[in-house]
Amino acid sequence: MTVQRVTALISGTGSNLRALIDACRSGRLPVEISHVISNRADAAGLQLAARAGIHCSVLEPGVFSNRESYDAALAEQIETGQPDLVVLAGFMRILGDTLVDRFNGRLINLHPSLLPLYRGTNTYRRALEAGDSEHGASMHFVTAELDGGPVIAQVRIPILPGDDPPRLAARLSPREHQLVVATVELFTRHAVECRDDGVYVDRARLTQPLQLEADGLLAP
Ligand code: GRF
Repeated sequence: MTVQRVTALISGTGSNLRALIDACRSGRLPVEISHVISNRADAAGLQLAARAGIHCSVLEPGVFSNRESYDAALAEQIETGQPDLVVLAGFMRILGDTLVDRFNGRLINLHPSLLPLYRGTNTYRRALEAGDSEHGASMHFVTAELDGGPVIAQVRIPILPGDDPPRLAARLSPREHQLVVATVELFTRHAVECRDDGVYVDRARLTQPLQLEADGLLAP
């Protein structure tokens, strides 16, 4: 699969979206972010997408009677952009199986933990409370299992004395931005597939997630 068109789903600030936009502008990412969809009308990321000339849509759950109808409308919105890849970049909503299956292999999520550790929310607090020596973020294929799909790439940072959740999140954030960009870049250069037994890059199965190095590149 050659990835050319990317749709990003956001819920908030959109700092990861900004990293993707910047990487497109600099020429590092040879893709078009053709569509940004938010589940919140007040997501600040919508403004920066609009300023970048990207088509934006808002789909707020409140007007839908149930999850199935919301997901069906969201799937239709996603299809309008004809994306090769859909990036959940800070999209804070759980997607149902039907939608996930429809975009199987084309849907990737950024999660702020070293999966399989700490699926769900409050990952920083949970890592600190567990006394972990490191924390990080993962890019994974989205499957029906929440934060449970095969992990493509990760970034690790040390937990330092005096860290609290906001401090840890602030230190992780710029590395997350690099991870998102590097992972999308991977899809533009290689065949990245989600199979039942894991992630394949150019038909070779990853035995562990790729790791983001200090230079912002992914390494085995
Ligand atoms: C990131 O920390 C990501 O890990 C989490 O939500 C945050 C998104 O931030 N899922 P932004 O909207 O991209 O700034």
